[in-house]
Amino acid sequence: MQMKKINPANQDLDLLASKYLIERDREFFNRVWSTPAQVYEDRLRALGMTGLESVLDAGSGFGQWSVALSKLNQRVNAIELDPTRVQVLSEMVQIIDLDNISVEQGSMEELPYRDESFDAVFSYSVIYFTDYRVSLREVHRVLRPKGKIYLNCNSIGWYVYNLVEGHNSSISFDSSKMAKQALEDSLAFYNYGESPKGNQIAIPSKFLVSELEKLGFENIQVGADGLITLDNDIAIESFYPADYFGLEGVYEVFATKNG
Ligand SMILES: C[S@@+](CC[C@H](N)C(=O)[O-])C[C@H]1O[C@@H](n2cnc3c(N)ncnc32)[C@H](O)[C@@H]1O
Repeated sequence: MQMKKINPANQDLDLLASKYLIERDREFFNRVWSTPAQVYEDRLRALGMTGLESVLDAGSGFGQWSVALSKLNQRVNAIELDPTRVQVLSEMVQIIDLDNISVEQGSMEELPYRDESFDAVFSYSVIYFTDYRVSLREVHRVLRPKGKIYLNCNSIGWYVYNLVEGHNSSISFDSSKMAKQALEDSLAFYNYGESPKGNQIAIPSKFLVSELEKLGFENIQVGADGLITLDNDIAIESFYPADYFGLEGVYEVFATKNG
């Protein structure tokens, strides 16, 4: 497979990736960093995730959202479970000379922050690796009253799409195998209460919404990936299909903590 070029063309980022990453991780790094920064920043602007004092990026991965958040807000904490990704993002923050991002290793299910520390929690494509009930309790705890939550999540249609059509498969990644595993793990989670333990599970949006309501979140909005916007003048790029054969695919949720 032809590797995408990192944009902006930054040899230091290329070197950083080659120092730590191989195969699937390297492909993922190149993919997220080859998307223009403007695309991420516009999506955050459309959500009104700007001008805030403190924002948490939960499950920051290789940090493209953390960097975008740091340009639009005063301070960002990026937390990520995978130590290699934490290392890569920590070095990247130094390379691109951003002094308002702190990168920490830890889990969304057990956030190492004090109660009411953040004005917003942003989490893209992470919560379905966790027991969402536990993660949402933690997010609620660390948010200030009236704080914002943004989640991007996968429902069943996304896994059926991967099973049938495939998505970003390569020598080191078989998307239909991933989807089959996710569907099996979803059954184990919903039928037998088995923890996802870092595997993916499909989470229908109505489950997330119901949990957010139980916690007392308000103004809950659900939309297809990239389609929730507070500003219709900003053109948004959606990254994933909203549904597949009538099954809910990738969606996003936006809400505010009760104040
Ligand atoms: C699909 S990636 C998304 C990364 C990033 N948010 C993005 O949009 O590119 C999922 C990330 O969640 C991380 N992750 C998985 N379980 C986690 C947990 N319990 N707490 C924090 N991060 C977690 C993975 O290591 C991975 O980097």
